[in-house]
Amino acid sequence: MNSDDRQITVPQFSAMKAAGRKITMLTAYDFPTAQLVDAAGVDGILVGDSVSMVVQGHPNTLPVTLEEMIYHAEMVGRAIRHALVVVDMPFPSFHLGVSRAIENAGRILKETCCQAVKLEGGVEQAEVIAGLVRAGIPVMAHCGLCPQSVHQLGGYRVQRDEDRLMADARAAEQAGAFAIVLECIPTALARQITAALTIPTIGIGAGADCDGQVLVYHDLLGMTCARPPRHVRPYAELHRAILDAVTRYRDDVRAGTFPGPEQTFQ
Ligand code: KIV
Repeated sequence: MNSDDRQITVPQFSAMKAAGRKITMLTAYDFPTAQLVDAAGVDGILVGDSVSMVVQGHPNTLPVTLEEMIYHAEMVGRAIRHALVVVDMPFPSFHLGVSRAIENAGRILKETCCQAVKLEGGVEQAEVIAGLVRAGIPVMAHCGLCPQSVHQLGGYRVQRDEDRLMADARAAEQAGAFAIVLECIPTALARQITAALTIPTIGIGAGADCDGQVLVYHDLLGMTCARPPRHVRPYAELHRAILDAVTRYRDDVRAGTFPGPEQTFQ
């Protein structure tokens, strides 16, 4: 359990890279989850647009709206004592010009207790990242597999274009991003990018040489019956525990053994 109540800051992410201390991040989308993840002492919580898939049940991350991201980020922000909270900018909230991106990211920071935004893209988003940073909004970039481009990519595949990925990462750093997520790229390329940048790289499916790691909470805990993606190590199989508990409750109610004397009032 974490006993340090001082909240992690954006500059501390770079300091962790400089000190060779691995950065830990996990997604959360609601108050009780964020409280637990924070209490466990992770450095950063991502209110990811993966909420669209793992909570809302959509087939991809495109449907979630800015209003919905703010709704989830508010819940998470209220729970946090320690971790840095980063909120995903949903599609297409940062594709409508720099001033609309500032307006949308500004709403996220004003209406939630969160500290930074994340957006997908490198070279093409450099101008937007720079504009947000000039406005005082910390930006985490996201390169490699960018799930918001799933239709253009034709699926969720490992990204292997070395020149393009290195250029994206460098462009994000030059534009002022304070960190960069590298999703589903070969380990050796992630290692090269990590060595080339002064800002920390946070990997997901990018090998152990990144400066930190991020996973989706529901994947880490085995919350769904579906087979997890290759880059996930499930640390629990909560779907089994939940199915078992709910089935026993159903059976007890049907058998008349719940509620028992301990759960009733005289
Ligand atoms: O939305 C999300 O959960 C993410 C992670 C996969 C990095 O962007």
